[in-house]
Amino acid sequence: MNIKNIKSEFPIFKQKINGKNLIYLDSANSSQKPKTVINEISSFYETEFSNVGRSVHTLAVKATNRFEETRDVVRSYINAKHREEIIFTKGATEAINLVAHSYGEKFIKSGDEIILTELEHHSNYVPWHYLREKKGAVIKFAPVDINGEINVDEFKKLITNKTKIIAFTHISNVTGTIMPVKKITDLAKSKNIPVLIDGTQGAQHLSIDIQDLDCDFYAFSCHKMYGPNGLGILYVKKKWIDELPPYQGGGGMISEVKKDNITYADSPTKFEAGTMQTAEVVAFAKSIKFLKDLGIKNIENHESDVLEYGLEQLRKNNSVKIIGNPKERASIISFTMKGIHPHDIATILDDEGVAIRAGHHCCQILHDKLGIPASARASIGLYNNKEDIDVLCEAINKCKKVFEV
Ligand SMILES: Cc1ncc(COP(=O)(O)O)c(C=O)c1O
Repeated sequence: MNIKNIKSEFPIFKQKINGKNLIYLDSANSSQKPKTVINEISSFYETEFSNVGRSVHTLAVKATNRFEETRDVVRSYINAKHREEIIFTKGATEAINLVAHSYGEKFIKSGDEIILTELEHHSNYVPWHYLREKKGAVIKFAPVDINGEINVDEFKKLITNKTKIIAFTHISNVTGTIMPVKKITDLAKSKNIPVLIDGTQGAQHLSIDIQDLDCDFYAFSCHKMYGPNGLGILYVKKKWIDELPPYQGGGGMISEVKKDNITYADSPTKFEAGTMQTAEVVAFAKSIKFLKDLGIKNIENHESDVLEYGLEQLRKNNSVKIIGNPKERASIISFTMKGIHPHDIATILDDEGVAIRAGHHCCQILHDKLGIPASARASIGLYNNKEDIDVLCEAINKCKKVFEV
């Protein structure tokens, strides 16, 4: 497999969109799936499907083994120490809700402080807001500067003896800023404060070594990693596994149920209530194999070339204003155009077969800070190349013509 002609591995690129080649620049929203992943889902349903962790018949045992094998694959991919630290969820959103609920339930009381940043996706704000509403917790935001960066000193200023958790994104889904995760985690450790990293935009672009990051929780989404929809992962550091109460109650997560008492299963089962996504989990092992076969470093280098080229080309266009200018940036270019609403940009680009996203990208706090209601976002995946950027730039010029700006 060669990253230069990798589009051939993705069946979606065979079709035309509005009569044009599909230029998919919306991978920060959700990535396309390679045929190995699609084939695995259909072959699993055709020959191996059964529910997991329940029955003892042949298919059930086989399916359970395949499901658990993926847990090992994920553990090894992020270099976690223990398999029980890997919990399957239905997305990064559920993973963060799990931590906010379970950690918050036990450890956060009125007046306690939660530190977030102004870069956060709503999925890493709303669950903490629930704790503010329910428990009277206080949320503080580390401010973002004009470049889209957050200095570690901003976190230092906000930490007090009431700080109970720091939760922040690994990579901003608007500015592409790669946060100084290790520095923030080291700072938090020195004060004994647990850290949650929202890795939803991280795990598909960068190699993740959880032991080196030394965070307490790391949440990410499989559908942005060229994997199946409806699946996410939460890494929970071993020290928290027994401490945290379960998130949801139901089948599979219990040890014993009596009329007057219930005891819970050990992790990870304790946090995986009800029937789990089976084919999706099994097929996710193929996504990781795909990423490993290409080599995450090769992916990083390739995407970074395309990103640099994209920034260079768009900067030449006087009508385009790129949001943020972080020193460390990954795969995301959000921009505005004077006199054209982002939704109009996205609609005109779509006529040219170019798929981008327009809106606030679930980051209203950041857009408020920037004083704009919305932006257009082109996000790069491993299948994009410099020719895609050329088509994007031509389509943007078409917007200028249509709106006469
Ligand atoms: C930074 C970030 N966090 C969280 C999420 C939520 O992920 P999901 O919708 O897959 O649960 C997203 C999705 O775009 C994101 O970009």
